[in-house]
Amino acid sequence: MKNKHDFSLALVTGASSGIGMQLCHLLAEEGIDLIITARRTENLQSLAEELGDKVNVEIVTADLANHHQRKELIEKMYERVPDLVVNNAGYGIYGEALTHETQKSMDMLEVDVAAVLEISLEGARALISSEREGVIMNISSSAAFQIFPYFAVYAASKAFVNNFSESFDEEVKHYGVRVLAACPGMVATEFPFVASGGAHREGNPLAMSVGFAASEIWRQILKRKPVHAFDWKYRIATFLSRYLIPKKITAMVMRKTIESRHPKKTIIKRTK
Ligand SMILES: NC(=O)c1ccc[n+]([C@@H]2O[C@H](COP(=O)([O-])OP(=O)(O)OC[C@H]3O[C@@H](n4cnc5c(N)ncnc54)[C@H](OP(=O)(O)O)[C@@H]3O)[C@@H](O)[C@H]2O)c1
Repeated sequence: MKNKHDFSLALVTGASSGIGMQLCHLLAEEGIDLIITARRTENLQSLAEELGDKVNVEIVTADLANHHQRKELIEKMYERVPDLVVNNAGYGIYGEALTHETQKSMDMLEVDVAAVLEISLEGARALISSEREGVIMNISSSAAFQIFPYFAVYAASKAFVNNFSESFDEEVKHYGVRVLAACPGMVATEFPFVASGGAHREGNPLAMSVGFAASEIWRQILKRKPVHAFDWKYRIATFLSRYLIPKKITAMVMRKTIESRHPKKTIIKRTK
């Protein structure tokens, strides 16, 4: 064993940028070999070159919205049986749900929900059938805890991730497999740029650094804490919005937050 924890191989989805990429740096420092995946192969290649003198890195280019490519990744999981699986890939779409084509929301759920579900189930099955222990870490969001107009589908997808992770954890923990959900608040990544369709370019001064987010996630993995919201400001805000502040005030605040990042658009009407 190369390190003080007991992980030897991690699969990290969404490793081409942001939290996933930073987490790969941290895991490589801990001596954990990596399977890294995302759509942007060139980003994965430069990451593999950077980390290659510390650990073995395998690249799997895959679009997680594509069922066939997801299956190939799952084949890889059965072949190599990672004892740490990080379901990190994901994105949001700012704005009223009806201002986007319905298909765009469905596509997002393929990555944020269906892929997380499939990789969690198959990752756990691969571990249990080879009599190994491990951790499935699902990257959720503090958006999971409250109503979130203008970000409704994304917030609901993360509520799914939390609920599924907590329940599935109870089902598989006696096999030595744990399923955890990390719930970061705003982190300085490409996320707002992608969610606003390129409109929101400037960083938010209140966002946490990716380094902080990755170290919180790693500490959660080591403690096997089922659900962890961070940082403390988001824990307080979540408590207030769930138990003390009336829902209509929460709704107004959340709507304003997104409106400031996304120009208002008109509702798309159904065309035959
Ligand atoms: N940043 C935040 O404020 C924040 C807050 C709470 C939770 N989160 C969650 O944290 C996770 C990581 O996001 P981030 O903030 O690091 O954003 P990011 O920098 O935009 O990274 C998103 C990652 O997901 C990958 N991805 C997106 N669509 C994909 C697809 N169809 N197939 C495969 N990979 C795909 C991207 O890779 P490619 O584009 O190369 O495919 C990229 O590596 C997400 O689950 C997000 O919901 C973020």
